[in-house]
Amino acid sequence: MAEELFVTPGAEKKEIYESLLPQLAALIEGEPDLTANLANIAAALRETFHWWWVGFYWVKDNQLVLAPFQGPIACTRIGFGKGVCGTAWKEAKSLLVPDVDQFPGHIACSSSSVSEIVVPIINIEGQVVGVLDVDSECYDVLDDTDVIYLEKVCELIRKML
Ligand code: SME
Repeated sequence: MAEELFVTPGAEKKEIYESLLPQLAALIEGEPDLTANLANIAAALRETFHWWWVGFYWVKDNQLVLAPFQGPIACTRIGFGKGVCGTAWKEAKSLLVPDVDQFPGHIACSSSSVSEIVVPIINIEGQVVGVLDVDSECYDVLDDTDVIYLEKVCELIRKML
């Protein structure tokens, strides 16, 4: 596909995701390299939503290790059950954190990030192999609609594993 995203300016969030999802699917279709695909998905999400930080952590040697992302530098390794990412991994479920100060053990890679969503990526055997992490510098940007659609994004990734 052409390396350009088409998103209707000013559209509702749901509508934006609906138009973005097939473009993400086309972007990774036929490309077997996981790193390349994660990198392009992180870039496409940030280009579309302008979040503070968006990217992936991947499970390696029983830790989450920083993987392709867009945004400021971030912590490299996160333990099982640690922070929002490690908790989403442990519980194998998406976490929406509207105020990171209210999440015990939140790992502050950046003091600018105040809210967060983490979605686990689960392989066909039911194991969490990585997480998608989205951070915002606003309190009122991330919501359940993002969770629903970011889970669909992770489903695209799961299909290529
Ligand atoms: N805040 C995350 C750490 C990752 S960074 O935000 C990129 C956490 O608590 O797991």
